[in-house]
Amino acid sequence: MKIAVVGTGYVGLVTGACLAKVGHTITCVDIDKNKIARLKKGIIPIYEPGLDKVVKEVIKKNKLSFDISLKNVLSEVQAVFIAVGTPARKDGKADLKYVFDVAKEVGETLAAEASRRRRQDYKVIINKSTVPVGTAKEVTNIIAKYYKGEFAVVSNPEFLKEGYAVDDFMKPDRIVVGTSSKKAKKIMQEIYKPVKGKKVFTEVQSSEMIKYASNAFLTTKISFINEIANLCELVGADVKEVSFGMGLDKRIGKSFLNAGIGYGGSCFPKDTTALNQIAGTKGYDFKLLKAVIEVNSKQRKYVIDKLEQVFGNLKNKRIAVLGLAFKNNTDDVRESASIDIIRMLTGVGARVKAYDPKANDNAKEILNSGVKITNDPYEAIKNSDALVIATEWPEFANLDFDKIKTLLKKPIIIDGRNLLNSVIIKKLGFQYYGIGRA
Ligand code: UGA
Repeated sequence: MKIAVVGTGYVGLVTGACLAKVGHTITCVDIDKNKIARLKKGIIPIYEPGLDKVVKEVIKKNKLSFDISLKNVLSEVQAVFIAVGTPARKDGKADLKYVFDVAKEVGETLAAEASRRRRQDYKVIINKSTVPVGTAKEVTNIIAKYYKGEFAVVSNPEFLKEGYAVDDFMKPDRIVVGTSSKKAKKIMQEIYKPVKGKKVFTEVQSSEMIKYASNAFLTTKISFINEIANLCELVGADVKEVSFGMGLDKRIGKSFLNAGIGYGGSCFPKDTTALNQIAGTKGYDFKLLKAVIEVNSKQRKYVIDKLEQVFGNLKNKRIAVLGLAFKNNTDDVRESASIDIIRMLTGVGARVKAYDPKANDNAKEILNSGVKITNDPYEAIKNSDALVIATEWPEFANLDFDKIKTLLKKPIIIDGRNLLNSVIIKKLGFQYYGIGRA
């Protein structure tokens, strides 16, 4: 099927490339001319394992092309995915400007085409961006304002994890589609036929809610285990043992039970805040979600509290921070706990040297120049008073800790991701502080 995907961020690019890989003919559209020019050459603007290989392969097979305007491709395609950003506004609401801009362009272009050709084929507009319940209706209204022909707006939320997005797309736990139109359902079935995974068809509003509810539930798991971790420290338990024991219960499940310095990224913080906003606008007090958000922001302060317990005042203390990305396997630093912690450290006068295997460049753009970012982990550690692990990159666990001990002024490690084997690290003579590990 010929399909357009509007937006070439993480979601749009992965969706476009993977749909091309399974046999569809895709045009990815973005208004950023430079980005499109680079993509045409197969240059990917993000670090996402496996994505560049897929993109290059499908470009070569003429299954994926790029354009700077939806107007150029709309008449050719049967379906249009909207995968543009919905950033959080200051009041926490999702900013739908970009989604509505696309809707307007679809409406205007369909109308112009219809009057030129005196007919227009049935189109399905698929919303992949994370949007409040009711947005599909609004998008429908915008398009209908301009175009009087037949079309359907479908909700199809994405559940991709950065760093694992290609795999998540190819082998999803489920594909959720919200539509009440039989015709649109048939087209969606055809689009996803080559992708294995359970297909769930719901009403549009339910589908929109599934996305927010899923992210809110995952963050609830994280904040819950972080609270348990804090309590573990007080009662002398080890949260790693506790979460392992809990996770074996199939009703609980072992994933998303890793205690640490809290969740970050471009989705969880934004989506939880937006869901809280949605509840508020309906006059509903979502107490649990509010607590999840509060626990998460408190958790980031853990590192500062621990360091202050050890050193008293942090002024002029040299702290090495390993990890800048919001999690491993990505170069993304949006809402990263590490960045927040570095800002808190410099805010109390500490001097920070930091290293990340992939996110150094992105971090440099947002951190002030006083923070030294190094291309080598040992360089960051050299002559520091303490080492903080802020991102769960597995390679940090394989560093040479004998060497690290000689490089640090004091053998102090704050493991914000419980990444290290505490027994071994302590045997090496380190003063080790994990999260929830008495
Ligand atoms: C998340 C969801 O996992 C995806 O299903 C969803 O599609 C995506 O948001 C989205 O809405 O677009 P992502 O933000 O890529 O994906 O990252 P996750 O792997 O979920 O991690 C999010 C944060 O939670 C990271 O900061 C990570 O360090 C933290 N985390 C995760 C924990 O602190 N503990 C855990 O046990 C798991």
